[in-house]
Amino acid sequence: QVFKLEDYRPSDYLIPLTELSFRLSPDATEVKAVLTIERRDGVATTAPLVLDGDGLLLKKLEIDGTPLAQSTYTVTPDRLEIAHPPEAKRFKLTIETEVAPVHNEALMGLYLSNGVYCTQCEAEGFRRITYFLDRPDILSVYTVRVEAPKAEAPQLLSNGNPLERGEMADGWHYAVWHDPFPKPSYLFALVAGSLGIVNDRFVTRSGREVELGIYVEHGKEKLADYAMDALKRSMKWDEDVFGCEYDLDVFNIVAVSDFNMGAMENKGLNVFNDKYVLADAETATDADFANIEAIIAHEYFHNWTGNRITCRDWFQLCLKEGLTVFRDHEFSADQRSRPVKRIAEVRTLRAHQFPEDQGPLAHPVRPRRYREINNFYTATVYEKGSEVVRMIRTVLGPEAFRAGMDLYLKRHDGEAATIEDFLKAFEDASGRDLSQFALWYHQAGTPNLTVSSAYNAAAREFTIEIEQSVPPTPSESRKRLMHIPLAFGLVGADGRDMVYESVEGATVDDGVIHVRKRRHSIRFSGIAERPALSLNRGFSAPITLSVEQKTEDRIFLSGHDSDPVARWQAFNTLLTEALIAASRQIRGGKRPVFSDRLSALAGQIACDDALEQAYRALALALPGEADIAREIGNDIDPDAIFAAREALAKRIAEENGPSLRDLYERLRDNGEFSPDAAGAGRRALRNALLDYLALLTDGASLAADHFRLAANMTDRAAALTVLAHRHSGTPQATGALASFESRYANDPLVMDKWFLVQASVPGAQTVETVRRLTSHRGFSMSNPNRVRALVGTFANANQTGFHRADGEGYRFFGEMVLEAERRNPQLAARLATAMRSWRSLEAGRRDKARATLLAISGTEGLSTDLRDIVERMLA
Ligand code: ARG
Ligand code: ZN
Repeated sequence: QVFKLEDYRPSDYLIPLTELSFRLSPDATEVKAVLTIERRDGVATTAPLVLDGDGLLLKKLEIDGTPLAQSTYTVTPDRLEIAHPPEAKRFKLTIETEVAPVHNEALMGLYLSNGVYCTQCEAEGFRRITYFLDRPDILSVYTVRVEAPKAEAPQLLSNGNPLERGEMADGWHYAVWHDPFPKPSYLFALVAGSLGIVNDRFVTRSGREVELGIYVEHGKEKLADYAMDALKRSMKWDEDVFGCEYDLDVFNIVAVSDFNMGAMENKGLNVFNDKYVLADAETATDADFANIEAIIAHEYFHNWTGNRITCRDWFQLCLKEGLTVFRDHEFSADQRSRPVKRIAEVRTLRAHQFPEDQGPLAHPVRPRRYREINNFYTATVYEKGSEVVRMIRTVLGPEAFRAGMDLYLKRHDGEAATIEDFLKAFEDASGRDLSQFALWYHQAGTPNLTVSSAYNAAAREFTIEIEQSVPPTPSESRKRLMHIPLAFGLVGADGRDMVYESVEGATVDDGVIHVRKRRHSIRFSGIAERPALSLNRGFSAPITLSVEQKTEDRIFLSGHDSDPVARWQAFNTLLTEALIAASRQIRGGKRPVFSDRLSALAGQIACDDALEQAYRALALALPGEADIAREIGNDIDPDAIFAAREALAKRIAEENGPSLRDLYERLRDNGEFSPDAAGAGRRALRNALLDYLALLTDGASLAADHFRLAANMTDRAAALTVLAHRHSGTPQATGALASFESRYANDPLVMDKWFLVQASVPGAQTVETVRRLTSHRGFSMSNPNRVRALVGTFANANQTGFHRADGEGYRFFGEMVLEAERRNPQLAARLATAMRSWRSLEAGRRDKARATLLAISGTEGLSTDLRDIVERMLA
């Protein structure tokens, strides 16, 4: 079945009140739902009431206290239809169902994770608990009663505020929760179990005292301190920057170990993948700390952007996700280094969203059709969705943007809204027309700008020629012209931005060219010397650029652009171009040639103490193999790309050996660990240097020392990676892997790093390692984190291993996808997207990849989730 945006119509019935009670048991939980149903104004009394279900067992059905005769309703596990509901406008429907959390391996609905009852209802998991109008525009006020044996589940949690709790017979107890804010069913949550608790409090700006709780596995309480700190900072930041204040008496977070996604913003009761809660220096890397901070903030920020204002239908998913990602990006930028954060965002977008947008899974930020909504929690909806919100701010300016946000929050509070509503708020607040801009939501594909420039010394004029194009994507062959805000600078020889007298050919304001037509010829006058052109500063638009630019200019910008993102980009482009050329040479049987200036420049950036350490680390990280492949575009040979990258790394290390080594020594750790941006930056730079130094003589023993002396997980994991990747099979590498394993054998989250490192070892033999590791006692096919760490890493982060020329990587992967699918279709579908760029491979690999996709799609009884992804990839 295909769901289409244009088919939206409001429901005939509403559910203003929902009373739920749960009697928890692993294989027979009794769920009683008392729904106050209301016929919407203007709907005929003959309209049937049709509720969604998914695999449900109906035990009892009553209307206004009277059991329904069998002949008056039809029920299947997936649907409950009452043909003739009462004529009264309002009535009470009582539904009893029975569910088995212990057998729920899909991790949607009510399930058990490590003995803890928990729920995941977004997008359509609530219908696995009871029959309901399970759609986001049905807003209901919930009262929830939870009963469980006290010994098994001392903690009983749900949304909203606690109302009452008490003892029952036979060692059972109960708790009642009430959430005064009407919400859609996807935000319902229940947690019950025996958990350790970390408590704190937060006083909102208007004086509301909020009790904060983070619930974790017993004994892990200390590991939640950082998450609690991040939560309090998020609450304060949202008041200061967006004027959003928290609205309940309690805010709870629960960490569970089996979770399909990162986390979930259930009203007042966020449920998290424990990977994004638990951290200390011993077990978590700086990247883990940064992710925790960002995801805690993201879920908290949903309280306004997602919960108070939710989505009318699932086509509007970006309304809450794109906006909330934008908010968490801004939060992290304020907490850490803004430029470094922005560069990291650009890298993530290119690595995840660009390949999606440029392949068979491309879809608009607001899709128009889907077969399975769970397959649309994508980089396009989230990350590109965030970029679109950022562009609204660029186009309107920060003040009008904030006014638009205020209007949106005020106008639609308590409603289920659309992207049109969102854009209208900005138009009304600013008086601007965003109709062309709106195409960013409606058109898939990464727009490209082709740019050339010329300087006329006699006329003191600088001209920029810009041509835009938007490539065709599945089901959208013809595209309309977009409004692209292109931030730029004309950089003079002194490194400063030149000031022009006048400009014609496009609207240019505040350092932004507004590209709206197919072609612009933009003339700047009063330009005294030929500038170096800096484009897409701050990554103002999520586009690709084809710029004719002198290498001289790129080198100059790498050292002098005042915009750090463009400066990083200039150097990164130089590296990418060199790597593409080298991979062609290698494929042609030649030795790769690199210019001396490139390695000299790398050395300079590494040692330039005027630059932030984290920035230098980012600049030194060579473009990834997948990034290079994407830039090449087609006929990809992963082995040639790998060899080119290794050769350049070696060259940079050899040319700069002593100075890099010297810097490495100077950056040695002294003092206590702090996960803040400064400490993380220093470690990032030192570990980036290690990556190069490990290529020189004695590299293995240097890395082994780094591993042995590491006082935190960031350094330990970095050294382990270098050893396993660059010195695979040496006693140092084998020793480090063994020592890491014995140290962390009982910590599954840390063991994920051990799996990840081995799954990403380059080369043809890794598929055998990974296959062997699937029988490791720490591995489990039913835990999503384990599967992603081992199988996901192999497919997404190991170009030479996964794309092994004989197709063994694909075959193994295909087996794993089908194996995951039997338990958890969502996990399998997500995993399978690793093959989305298969068409750009060289012919031999392409055929083998297709064979694997065909084998999956030919499997009988495939879930909708996996079928949808595989068929779109093959289309
Ligand atoms: N709304 C959650 C978040 O981004 C993600 C939940 C996704 N769940 C799913 N089943 N696809 O914060
Ligand atoms: Zn979200």
